Amino acid sequence: MSNPDQKTTHFGFKDVAEDQKAGMVHGVFTSVASKYDIMNDVMSMGIHRVWKDAMMDWLAPRPGQRLLDVAGGTGDISFRFLKRAPGASSVVLDMTESMLVEGRKRAEAEQMADHLDWVTGDAMSLPFEDNQFDVYTISFGIRNVTRIQDALCEAYRVLKPGGRLMVLEFSQLPNPMMQKAYDLYSFNVIPQMGQLIAGDRDSYQYLVESIRKFPDQETFARMIREAGFANVSYRNLSLGIAALHSGWKI
Ligand SMILES: C[S@@+](CC[C@H](N)C(=O)[O-])C[C@H]1O[C@@H](n2cnc3c(N)ncnc32)[C@H](O)[C@@H]1O
Repeated sequence: MSNPDQKTTHFGFKDVAEDQKAGMVHGVFTSVASKYDIMNDVMSMGIHRVWKDAMMDWLAPRPGQRLLDVAGGTGDISFRFLKRAPGASSVVLDMTESMLVEGRKRAEAEQMADHLDWVTGDAMSLPFEDNQFDVYTISFGIRNVTRIQDALCEAYRVLKPGGRLMVLEFSQLPNPMMQKAYDLYSFNVIPQMGQLIAGDRDSYQYLVESIRKFPDQETFARMIREAGFANVSYRNLSLGIAALHSGWKI
């Protein structure tokens, strides 16, 4: 029987008990981990690489900086950061061990393992002291987090004064016709591709539903300000299919 006092949240288009969501998200990423990188290329036709490079252009990594890459998965953001910033280091934190395992294999292959640490943990309760990092990134991760505001507050806590937050996430197209065309593609094509390539339709159905549930650019910018960040701004990518949000701890 359902408990009326139980807090609920969404898992894609389903309402679920708040304390069940993380386990369900963990199930999705455990299931897709070994095919995650190839699926990203196929689903986005390689465009996720352009967006991640745009994130680095705006972030402008500097030598010696210490990055915390939350929901870092297989390490795409950290690898890019380290390639641009000699002597920098990165901690990749993710709640799904299988994603980190794939990332570690890539780090070994690219001979970057010395500058990386891989930590299993939750964005809503980071296992770090206050004021530790120069940069906090979260790329295509925050929409999966049960309490987004808690994750933003944790980002603020672990950044050093002067540190910077940057979020890459799917967003909303301001033009309704384009949004409709994009929905047609994502709801009809992506779950089928998930079935064909990863043998997992349901995980990709969740992914497209979770994109539609994520707040629009202005709402998300407000949430970042509420966590304490200053100079918050955003840039649309591919007309708003995705967006970058930036904020500073000052
Ligand atoms: C779509 S992947 C993104 C991976 C990588 N950042 C990228 O851009 O390719 C989302 C990741 O978020 C992780 N994740 C979801 N909720 C999380 C949470 N509360 N704390 C830490 N990681 C989380 C998942 O395990 C998954 O690896």
